[in-house]
Formats: sequence, structure tokens, C-alpha cells
Amino acid sequence: MIRALRWRTHTAAALPAALAACSSHVPNTTLSPQTEFGRDIDALFDILLFAGVAVLVLVTLALLFVIVRYRHRAGAPEPKAIHGNAVLEIVWTLIPAVILAIIAVPTVRTIFRTQAEAGPNALQVEVVGHQWWWEFRYPQYGVVTANELYLPVGRTVNFALMTADVVHSFWIPQLGGKRDLVSNDTNHVWFTPESAFAWNGFCAEFCGSSHANMRFRVFTVPPEQFERWIAHQQSPPVLGAAAPPAGAIDTLAPAPPAPPQATAPTVVADSLPEHVRAATPIPAGLRMSNVRGDAARGAQLFMRATPMPCAACHAIQGVAASIVGPNLTHVGSRTSIGAGLFPTDARHLALWIKDSPAMKPGSKMPAFGKSAQIPAGLDDQQIADLAAYLLSLK
Ligand code: CUA
Repeated sequence: MIRALRWRTHTAAALPAALAACSSHVPNTTLSPQTEFGRDIDALFDILLFAGVAVLVLVTLALLFVIVRYRHRAGAPEPKAIHGNAVLEIVWTLIPAVILAIIAVPTVRTIFRTQAEAGPNALQVEVVGHQWWWEFRYPQYGVVTANELYLPVGRTVNFALMTADVVHSFWIPQLGGKRDLVSNDTNHVWFTPESAFAWNGFCAEFCGSSHANMRFRVFTVPPEQFERWIAHQQSPPVLGAAAPPAGAIDTLAPAPPAPPQATAPTVVADSLPEHVRAATPIPAGLRMSNVRGDAARGAQLFMRATPMPCAACHAIQGVAASIVGPNLTHVGSRTSIGAGLFPTDARHLALWIKDSPAMKPGSKMPAFGKSAQIPAGLDDQQIADLAAYLLSLK
């Protein structure tokens, strides 16, 4: 009975969303929770929904009864005036109080349970919100990365939520959240991933012009793959082969087949499910000439580009240590750049370096392309070199 009711509630609540998406595949739904945290929140949602529906039905029936039973009839005398009814007033005060208690007790219990820190064996992940990207730190392993989170299936993850600037909110609809990242305090949330999958994460608190562009990906992977990913993240970047020409990525022959998933520590971009592919269109008017970048020259430019070196803001293990912008140690092995906006390829990296604020409104990274406003900026060859270098950081 309860099961049937739950199913019906979910169907009723999910229907508008499903119709809007015109698809039965809704990977960003909150109505199909995949962790204990999600099910706790879902149970609260059900209580509210049932209590709300019960109140609606009872009040509507009472209203209809009164309208019909006491309607005006021809020749009827004036109704008797009544001044107060103590019993009635006590009853209609007590009933809402009981309903609020029914809602409040499980809600407060769930809040306390889910914001407590998880046990000492949990995987610890520190989340730092920035305008407009996510810094993820794994303090037990000495790993820092950005915008892509790897979590092992079956191990509870304890997130410590902090912000570098304004209030953000950490949210992975089917796994957990929303919980705010606030100044001068650390919030916590924990959950246990149950299946290997790719999930979308969002900022769920308005935080400025690119709030909607503050996204991240979560890859829940088998524990062995997580261990390999951690080992890979701990090692210095592996400089890969020469990158394709930055302007001509579309015209190139397909990339060589990706290594099989079982041996790749990172999720291979080509094998990404549709819902986590970065697919933001490039703004009109942004172009790169068709030049081939040189990773070795790019590595030098990283340290001395004008008007300022990349190393002034970005860290690369063994190369530079600034923590202003995202850590780029393994940026070439991430599936997206710009906090989930664009695929990681030579063309998008080059355009991002050339004019990041055009690619993403409000981006704190200045445009580096040479222009009338930035006469000391980089030319397309230099930008392609930098993109080739970054792409090679696997
Ligand atoms: Cu960060 Cu909205």
C-alpha cells in the first residue's frame, strides 16, 4: 500500500518535469534518489506531500459542504449571528499545531543527522566554492583538483563545504545537497554513492553573473578505479603527445581509440554519457586561426605570458603553486573546462585563453588575446602553444 502510494506520488510529481523534458531519461531529477541522504530527503518530501494533500482535501470538502448545506434559500429567515465558539477555535488551533509537529520532528532529525560529520573512515573531501568554479581537495591523499569529483562506490564521503568569496550551494540532485557554502563557517554533508555513474553537479544559490555556469561533474567509480585515479592525481602531470591545431579541431580525423575504461584512471571523454557532455556553444565572433600549438613553447609561456603569467594564478604540481584559479595539474585529463561548460580540447582551451570573459560572463580570468585593448596580449600562435601545453597535462 505504502509502496503503491509512494509510486503514485512520484509519478504525479514527476509528470510535469518528464513532460517538459519530453524524455523518460531525467538524470538530474531529485525524485529518484540514489543515496541514503537522498532517500531521507525524499521521505520528508513525501510527508509534506501527503500532509498537504490531506489538508487540501479536508478543507475543500468542508468548504463544499458549508456552501451547499447553508446556501441561501427563498423565504428563509436571516441566519442567527454567533459571537465566537471556544471549542471550534481550540480545535482549529490544535490541528495545525499537530500537523506542524508531524512535519517538524522528522525534518529536524534529518537535518541533524545529515549535517553531522560522517565517521572517521569516510572519504574526506573539502569543497571550496569560487566565483564561478569548484575546488575539490582530498586532504587524506594530498590531492587538489577542480570541477570534477571522483568518488568510490560504497564508501561514505564526508564533504566539508567552504567558500572563497560569496555564498554558493553544493548540489548533486540524485546524490545529495543542496547545502550552502558560507563565509567563516564550514558546513557538512555526507552520503554514500551506490552505483558507478556520471552525475551533474550545480551551484544552487545565486552567486553572481555566472551562477548558472558554476557546474561540476561527479564520477562515481569502482574502488579500484578510484585508487588508480588518486595515484594518478598524486603523480606529476604526464606530458602527452603533440596537440592538434587549435583552430581545426573539427576537421581532424577522429582521435585514436581511447584506452579501455578498465585501465583508465580517469573517465574518458569519448565514453561520456550524453547528459554530462559539455556542450555550451562558442559565442559568435570568437575565432582562432588554424595554427598548431607546441607544448614545449606553451610550458615556457605558462611561466612568462603577458600581460601576466598563467603561473600567477594557477598551480601545476612541480611547476607553479598559486591557488587563485583552478589547479591545472591534470587539466588535460578532465572532461570539461570553464566549470563544466566546454569540452577539453585544443580549440576550446585556446578560445578560453584568448577571451575567457567572452566565453563565460564575469569570468575572473582576463582575456589574454592580443587586441586593441590588450596590445601586449598573446597572438594566436602563442595561445595555441599554451593550449597544447595544457592539453598535454594528462
Ligand atoms: Cu555559486 Cu551560484
